[in-house]
Amino acid sequence: MRIKGKEYRTIWFENNFVKIIDQTKLPHLFVIKNLKSIEDAINSIKKMEVRGAPLIGATAAYGLVLAIIENDDQSFLKKSAEDLISSRPTAINLKWAVDRMMNKLSGVNSDKILEIAINEAKEICEEDIKFCENIGINGLKIIEEIYNKKRDTVNILTHCNAGWLATINWGTATSPIYHAHKKGIPVHVWADETRPRNQGANLTSYELNEEGIKNTIIADNTGGILMQRGEVDMCIVGTDRTLANGDVCNKVGTYLKALAAHDNKIPFYVALPSSTIDWNIKNHKDIPIEERNSEELSHVEGLDEKGDIKKIQIYPKKSKAMNLAFDVTPAKYVTGLITEKGVCEASEKGLKELFK
Ligand code: MRU
Repeated sequence: MRIKGKEYRTIWFENNFVKIIDQTKLPHLFVIKNLKSIEDAINSIKKMEVRGAPLIGATAAYGLVLAIIENDDQSFLKKSAEDLISSRPTAINLKWAVDRMMNKLSGVNSDKILEIAINEAKEICEEDIKFCENIGINGLKIIEEIYNKKRDTVNILTHCNAGWLATINWGTATSPIYHAHKKGIPVHVWADETRPRNQGANLTSYELNEEGIKNTIIADNTGGILMQRGEVDMCIVGTDRTLANGDVCNKVGTYLKALAAHDNKIPFYVALPSSTIDWNIKNHKDIPIEERNSEELSHVEGLDEKGDIKKIQIYPKKSKAMNLAFDVTPAKYVTGLITEKGVCEASEKGLKELFK
């Protein structure tokens, strides 16, 4: 998608470096960063310079390419794979991408290993773009249906950033919105601010602005009253891990939006590529939920009057804060899953029908 009118992807490989857009600087500064080593790739995931389930998967895949450039010994590769998987535990795409790479690379001791790794990492990215595009085509039908009944702007609430910045291109939750906009359907997005890191305000609103899509940032607790007032036609969110039974793990706060949507009879959709499905875990309580540094809550970053990015403390120094990054929305509150293969019920039956 576009930034200042120029097409970008969120990650690419050039001259033996991995190039990323440093998302910790957005929306104030647009900085392209070079990742030069496996350590750079791991730090970039941990610090959330790259974030969003599909994108951290792709970064991990390219991280293994960088590991091979540094040292093509199999034990170094195995240790790099383990370090990548533990860098952010909740999004299954990360482990999925590392496992897929390691299936191709384990035991390969020839000078072809680098070429195989680069091709597979590229393939992971190309596939994600295709899947996200298909999610858009499938989700567009739902937006169109609402528009055909309403014949007025479709108001869509989303949480966190499940936009193109969280993927390689298109996004998951935003892909149907981009497709609707391109088709001339009037859409307006309520972007949940998404404390503590403000991905909704800093990233979703930013990327929608760049594509000329109307949006309004709201505080995380505003969705409920907007739904009661009839100002939300549907919700679309992304996910970091969806279980085979349809339970959806996503950015903390998603669950509360789903409860409010259920109470107000507003459709609540989750958009995901199949790389986000965890076919193994049966009970959502077994999903590893990332707990991040409490400083993300107690401090905020923004521009000062000179235009420099500054971080300031907003909580009492003595107070403790807790920062769970994700929650789980039970399948019963999910109207449907929008995938690359079609839209299905959030259930084992629904998912299995699509992904035999
Ligand atoms: O902590 P983040 O910013 O990586 O969390 C991202 C989300 O929760 C997204 O909704 C999810 O990864 C879906 S991405 C298309």
